[in-house]
Amino acid sequence: MRLSKEKLKELIANKLHKAGLSTEHADGVADVLVHADARGVHSHGAMRVEYYAERIAKGGLNNKPNFHFEKTGPSTAIFDGDNGVGHVAAKLAMDEAIKMAKENGVAIVGVKRIGHSGALSYFVQQAANENLIGISVCQSDPMVVPFGGAEPYYGTNPIAFAAPGKDGKHITFDMATTVQAWGKVLHARSKNEPIPDTWAVDSNGEPTTDPFKVNALLPIAGPKGYGLMMMVDVLSGILLGLPFGNKVSSMYHDLTEYRNLGQLHIVINPEYFVGLESFQEGISTTMKDLNNIKPASGFKQVSYPGQRSAEREKAYEENGIEIVDHIYEYLISDVIHNNVYDHKSPFAK
Ligand code: NAI
Repeated sequence: MRLSKEKLKELIANKLHKAGLSTEHADGVADVLVHADARGVHSHGAMRVEYYAERIAKGGLNNKPNFHFEKTGPSTAIFDGDNGVGHVAAKLAMDEAIKMAKENGVAIVGVKRIGHSGALSYFVQQAANENLIGISVCQSDPMVVPFGGAEPYYGTNPIAFAAPGKDGKHITFDMATTVQAWGKVLHARSKNEPIPDTWAVDSNGEPTTDPFKVNALLPIAGPKGYGLMMMVDVLSGILLGLPFGNKVSSMYHDLTEYRNLGQLHIVINPEYFVGLESFQEGISTTMKDLNNIKPASGFKQVSYPGQRSAEREKAYEENGIEIVDHIYEYLISDVIHNNVYDHKSPFAK
């Protein structure tokens, strides 16, 4: 089923509002989810609505959060999300970081006590749209074996970066520090497709291609990905005084409880370094240089990070966004949720 961005956003927002969110927050979440679907990151798009609806309906997200923003220094601040939807808190916190970086050259804003915030590209692009560099990292539930370990400790702890080039084009890099985000396994489950044997292990610690047998994910590049997820947990957990490591709350363990997650935005103003014009020139040159690199066999062209997603977004604007049929059926139905997510284990079927 193909839907326009506007239609998809309306369906998602309606469902989340029916589940209990204010129209303002339902709209805010829908905007982030549609952004992900439009960029082809379906793992963090409409597919998540039923999970959010169940958590909202069961009280595991604060429907009337009292957001609180406090500057702790000229370039530092804390945004307390009061366990409301992470998407909205992270967006508002980035708005504040942007203001501060415009004034002071740099801003670091911790976003604490939030629910899941979705695809981080949304937030770093807020900064790039204002001619600033955006970096964002966040905690995620423990489902990854640390290098050499046989049980999960860290989450899929993503890292996102966006930098503005000329003509409104950005480089946007956004990745889970696992070989694949958990949402990609969920996407494979939703389509009943196998996964590559490099993504995850089963309950015996053996690589598996069956998305339903996954018992832990693998970090990217062994000890190096493991080191990156540790860094993310330090910056968005320990630094903000939040639960960290395997104490980070699970997405699925108890949908009636708040998650208390953390995220950290870093915004850098190029005007305080090389100057905006020169910076944008450099970014645009990098994009061209990368596109002009001789492609390896099997590749048509080297893409700069975020290029293919931006192209998809443009194509979807014209042709609509493709949504899996059963997700569409759910979105247009009167059902708020089917009570399938409160299953205590992140890896349950
Ligand atoms: P991915 O594997 O689809 O892409 C990772 C990066 O590689 C992207 O920046 C993409 O532009 C780039 N890329 C991919 N193929 C490329 C190619 N051929 N040439 C050049 N660049 C290429 O992303 P992943 O790791 O699956 O993450 C998906 C989303 O999940 C992200 O938006 C992330 O923020 C989100 N996430 C959110 C979490 C949360 O708790 N809020 C937890 C984990 C992930």
